[in-house]
Amino acid sequence: MVKPDGVQRALVGEVISRFEKRGLKLIAVKIYRIPTDIAERFYGEHKGKHFYDSLIRYITSGPVVCMVWEGEEAVSVVRAMMGKTNPAEAAAGTIRGDFALHPGRNVIHGSDSEASAKREINLLFNDYELIDYKRIDAEWLVE
Ligand code: RTP
Ligand code: MG
Repeated sequence: MVKPDGVQRALVGEVISRFEKRGLKLIAVKIYRIPTDIAERFYGEHKGKHFYDSLIRYITSGPVVCMVWEGEEAVSVVRAMMGKTNPAEAAAGTIRGDFALHPGRNVIHGSDSEASAKREINLLFNDYELIDYKRIDAEWLVE
């Protein structure tokens, strides 16, 4: 998910381009203004932490772009491309390392496991919004 700061800073195309070129397959995408109740469920695991209230304000502060990317080891590939949660510690070449400065404005969210991905996709998308197709270069991406 490109977070509200990423949308306002016109980084949506850059983010999509990186995942697309890496070889992941985009199977769903939409711009969405997350309602507070969905944001609270989305980030339920962080309830009670010191940054929780500001995190909910941040993620509901403007539209986000939600995406579902599919591919070999997609979760770990995406997490590596995002960089560390605190952009100050994120390696150059990662999205946060290239485009962000502060954990409260770190441009992108990515699911941290397959189970989280399933839960988050269910919260943000209807089944009919997930599109099944084959990339024409599929044979050239995975042996
Ligand atoms: P995300 O869930 O957004 O993909 O980020 P993440 O897994 O890298 O980090 P997580 O620990 O799940 O934290 C969720 C988001 O909360 C904000 N945060 N702020 N100020 C802080 O110490 C702090 N810690 C976390 C960040 O926006 C982080 O992405
Ligand atoms: Mg997380």
